[in-house]
Amino acid sequence: MDRWEKLREDCMTCRNCSLSERRKNVVFGDGAHDAEILLIGEGPGQREDEQGIPFVGPAGQLLDDMLEMIGLDRTKVYIANIVKCRPPNNRDPLNVEQEACIGWLRCQTAFLRPKIIVCLGRIAAKAIIREDFRITQEHGQWVQRKNVWLTAIYHPAALLRDDAKRPDTFEDLKDIQRKIREVCERTCGMPDCKP
Ligand code: URA
Repeated sequence: MDRWEKLREDCMTCRNCSLSERRKNVVFGDGAHDAEILLIGEGPGQREDEQGIPFVGPAGQLLDDMLEMIGLDRTKVYIANIVKCRPPNNRDPLNVEQEACIGWLRCQTAFLRPKIIVCLGRIAAKAIIREDFRITQEHGQWVQRKNVWLTAIYHPAALLRDDAKRPDTFEDLKDIQRKIREVCERTCGMPDCKP
């Protein structure tokens, strides 16, 4: 068993917090194990809990469309969440739950060694970029940390609730595409490019 499989197996039996008591499935992540781009959401919803795959509900459909706009799909990125088990009634994951779970994501990140990390929404941006991150003011901005470029965009579920956020997100996506061309070696980010 390779290191990634071992990590996944260990995560599947995690009991680090009480979210594990009600879960149907641990949602470990989805995508390419050699991805240069890591997308980080908040936590599984109902559909994700049922299927064990991140972003498979309505927000996931929109995320797939957003990826396609900049020449990406799930074979070219890796998608994970801050917490790997569904919070009840889709509430925000508590700090204690995030702290109990973040180690899995740290191990995934260390394994993948992404060039770009895109936080999807406020919860991920606060956990990954900065505790006082303000998504409305700082979405689309870049910070570099240990050779990794980090940014945050609105969560696709927020775009489903509020159309007015879409133009800003379109600009942020185009900027992510520019950053991919600048720093990624194997991912092109051009629509219709199938290397
Ligand atoms: N929202 C998230 O943040 N993550 C998912 O996997 C699904 C919806």
